[in-house]
Amino acid sequence: MPPIPETAERRAALSHAITEETGLDTAAIEDFLRAFYGAAREDPLLGPAFAGVADWEAHIATLARFWGSVALMQGGYHGQPMQAHARLGLTPAHFARWLALFEAVARARLNPAGAAHMLERARRIARSLEMGLIPLPLPPRPEARPVPAG
Ligand code: HEM
Repeated sequence: MPPIPETAERRAALSHAITEETGLDTAAIEDFLRAFYGAAREDPLLGPAFAGVADWEAHIATLARFWGSVALMQGGYHGQPMQAHARLGLTPAHFARWLALFEAVARARLNPAGAAHMLERARRIARSLEMGLIPLPLPPRPEARPVPAG
């Protein structure tokens, strides 16, 4: 079967269908992001990790492009989230808290289909970020046996 062409028209049609099904559009996502990051900055665990963000308007604009690509199929985000988080010293507790807050704000600000759409993607991406950033402890190495001579 020939590949389905990845055209601007096709992306626009998909984006439109998602908006119809979920109520999510650029404005709804930006409104959600402002509420979520407003709460994240106030959170005792997450707040300190965001203290180094110098320009919040620029960060919100980057995140709006990211979520436009992830949730609305708009394209337009070309960053490297793994590298952006590499030096923050994030722990499993940070990810658990981030997801709990994301879920609470999504359920409060978006309709049920929109919240479910965002949450499914947030959980998947958080999991891959967490697995990439936080190494699992290795099992203890078995005692090395001396190589027999000869
Ligand atoms: C676990 C808790 C998390 C903390 C504390 C955190 C914090 C941060 C910080 C401090 C930045 C850098 C901002 C800057 O450039 O100044 C950042 C960037 C970003 N974060 Fe997170 N983050 C977390 C989890 C996540 C998750 C789960 C996602 C996605 C589902 C995400 C998506 C992004 C994106 C897209 C960027 C922009 C990367 C770029 O520069 O292109 N973050 N985050």
